Formats: sequence, C-alpha cells, structure tokens
Amino acid sequence: DTLRKVQQYLKPFQLSQAKLLEVSARLNQDMVLGLGKTTHHKAAVKMLPTFVRATPDGTEKGDFLALDLGGTNFRVLHVRVVEEEQKVLKMDSQICAIPKEIMLGTGEQLFDHIAACLSDFLVSQNLKGQTLPLGFTFSFPCEQIEIDKSILIRWTKGFNCSGVEGKDVVTLLREAIHRRGDYDIGSVAMVNDTVGTMMSCGYKDQSCEIGMIIGTGTNACYMEEMRNVRRVEGEDGRMCINTEWGGFGDDGSLKDIQTEFDVEVDETSINPGVHIFEKMISGMYLGEIVRLLLVRLAEDNLLFRGRTSEALRTPFTFETKFISEIEEQDDGLVNTRRILTELGLEREPVDCAVVRLVCETISQRSADLCAAALATIGNRIRTNRGLSHLKTTVGVDGTVYRKHPKFSEKLRATVRRLAPECDITFLVSEDGSGKGAAMVTAVAQRLAHQSR
Ligand code: BG6
Ligand code: GLC
Repeated sequence: DTLRKVQQYLKPFQLSQAKLLEVSARLNQDMVLGLGKTTHHKAAVKMLPTFVRATPDGTEKGDFLALDLGGTNFRVLHVRVVEEEQKVLKMDSQICAIPKEIMLGTGEQLFDHIAACLSDFLVSQNLKGQTLPLGFTFSFPCEQIEIDKSILIRWTKGFNCSGVEGKDVVTLLREAIHRRGDYDIGSVAMVNDTVGTMMSCGYKDQSCEIGMIIGTGTNACYMEEMRNVRRVEGEDGRMCINTEWGGFGDDGSLKDIQTEFDVEVDETSINPGVHIFEKMISGMYLGEIVRLLLVRLAEDNLLFRGRTSEALRTPFTFETKFISEIEEQDDGLVNTRRILTELGLEREPVDCAVVRLVCETISQRSADLCAAALATIGNRIRTNRGLSHLKTTVGVDGTVYRKHPKFSEKLRATVRRLAPECDITFLVSEDGSGKGAAMVTAVAQRLAHQSR
C-alpha cells in the first residue's frame, strides 16, 4: 500500500515512449536552430563548431602534454603518439586537486593553480627543459574561433570563476605560465571532453563518430556535414560539433517534463536557469533529486515513520554514488541500510524498498532522457547520409555511465526502442579524454606542417 502511494509521487518521472520521442524531436529542432547562421544566437542547444575535421591518418607522432579539466578530477598527462603502430601511449599522469575556493574564486587563481600543477608534473617527469605541444580538454561550452582560440561562453557544473567568461582560455593559460616564467609550452589545441572521448575511441574503432559524457555533467559531440554547419565556411567534408545538449530546455522547452523537484534543484543551484536538461540527468544533480523526493515522502508520512534527519535535510548529502550502491544487484540492501544509518535515519524494512524504488526511477529517467538525445544524434547522422540504417559507434565516459550498475543497460535498451534504425555500439573510453586531446593536437600539428 505504501509502495502504491509512493508510485503517485514517481509518476511524473516516468516518461512514456511517446513522450521520449517527442523530446527527441524537439531536440532535433533545437539542433537545427543551433547550427543556423542567423538563428544560433537564440538557440538553447549551442551546437559549437570544434574545428576538428580530420581524424588521425596514422602519420602523427611525438610527445604531448595534456590537461583535463572539468570532470571529477583535474589531470595532467604526458602522452606519446607512435607513428606506425597508430598508438597513443600514456606515459604518465597525475591528478591534481582543485579546492572549492578556487572553483569559485578568480580566473587568475584558477589558471595560476593549473600552471603550478603542470610545473610540478614537468619536474617529476624531467620534462621541464622541453617545449611540448599541449592538448587542453576543457569541459565547458566554448565558442571556438580556431583550434587554439576558444572563448568560454559560461561556466557550468560546479565552477564559477570570475573574469573568464567571454575570454580566450588559451590566452589565460599562457599568461599564467608566463607569470611563473619557469617553463613554456608549444602549440595548444582546445577540445571539449566529448571530443577528446570520441577521438580516443576513434583510434580503436574508425566508425566512432559520436562522443558522449554522462558524468558530473552530460553532453555529446558528433561528426556533422560541413554543408549543415552554416557558421563555418566551406561545404565539403565533416566537422565535429559539440552539441552542449546540457542546455536543452534553457528556453523553457522542457517545462512539460520538469517536476517540482527539478525546478527546486535548478533554483537552488549556483546557475539557475542554465543547463536544465543536464540537471535532470547528470551526476552532479541525481543524488539531490533523490534527496528532495525522500524528504517529501517522509514529510508526507510515507517514509521513516514521518521523520527526517538533519543530514537528509542538508543539500547534497545524498551523493549520486549512493544511488549506484543502493541499486547494486547483490549488496543493494546491505548498502541501503548502511547509507540510511549514516544519514541518521531510522528505518523499517519497507523504507529500504521505497528508497530503492526512488533511486531506480531517477536513474531510469536519466538513462531514458540520454537515450532520447542519443537517438536524435543517431537519426541525424543517418538522415544526413541518406541511409535507411546506420551502424555507428559512440565513445562514452563519465562516472554515472561507468559506475552505476544498470545505467548502461537501461540506456542501450531505450535507444534501441527509440531509434530502431540505428545500430549503436558503445565503447567506454579507456584513458579519459586526455589521450584524445593529445591526438587532436597531433593532427593539428601535422596539418600545420603540411600547409607550410
Ligand atoms: C574523464 C575524462 O574520464 O571523464 C574527462 O577524462 C571527463 O575529460 C570525465 O570530463 C567525465 O566524467 P566525470 O564523471 O568525471 O565528470
Ligand atoms: C557540461 C559542460 C560540457 C561538458 C559536460 C560533460 O555540460 O558544459 O562542455 O562536455 O558538462 O563534462
């Protein structure tokens, strides 16, 4: 009986096949708007040209540095690209913490911190005397002018550093390095994490032409026909487009599926009104949606005998990784009991079942919405090429996709239902997007040398 009453609260999170198809069609319209020369300014889905056109041809080689900023970890890498074997070797890497004060501080502090991490790494690798080219995975929406000029449109996820929006990120990095004066870097290539992920998988699978992230944030990129990319000159070939699908709904177009809980998550975030779609899907927010639901159910006497706890009433105490632990096949129940105890909640057996049902519903909706968006991209590539059937590969990364016990299966199942004409293979990126960023740098260097 309790479970039946709880179901009423969960209904708005359960999206029918028809609704998902509608969402998918709406996203396609927004993508067309974002690609348009005169319409892109007002588009919620930004469809940013990346200036990545060529994929590796196997003649790239050399040593590269890579920075990977914007996911759970900030990483510095040393990568070697080997010519004949078409191999990208990760020589070494280091994780560098970014304290919260820096995430919310000034841009100068952030880039000084990045430059300092890179300096430490170069010392530890004995690379300080060299001037290596650098691939910079920067996982935020940027208006890219060229491969080495990239202007931050706005921060998303947990970052909000002053004085960076509207500026070229490469210049800010170079200035910070010059302020130090103890080392220098060569040419720079900027990539979004989706692009880095696509490129790192593209090495193994030539048909990898989509990159997708379902982690702290969510986003995807794909290879679009140049003739459709109205904002960049040229009609031939393809260019990778960073969709920034996280911003879908920022113009109010998802009001019909936003629940009161989604509205609350948005309104209490550091960037209200920004990245509405992302806030229904990605790791930074899923735990918080579950927490708000649990509080409501307790207040309405359907959980914990009507009582909450101080911890449960505190924002972000219900971590997204708890959802994964609660939904685990074998240890789910044990985990649920432990987590509820840690949150200071007294429980009866039925409470564990309710909590699990809430988690399953929220992760299912996340997977369904991602699937709808991926179906849109699959169908777009398919119709672009006039195919009745498309076989393609998507390179994927992100903690939600990797760590949640059922997410990838849920996603795959829904995509199959929504886009039966697309046969999509999922390939998890092995070494993060750093390798892909180095690859983009290597290709850019090769092209620069060729045109000299
Ligand atoms: C990492 C990639 O593996 O995954 C990053 O190297 C990316 O570039 C990240 O941003 C996304 O996942 P999460 O969960 O760390 O945000
Ligand atoms: C956010 C960023 C986007 C990034 C995604 C995944 O949506 O705006 O650039 O790709 O998170 O990290």
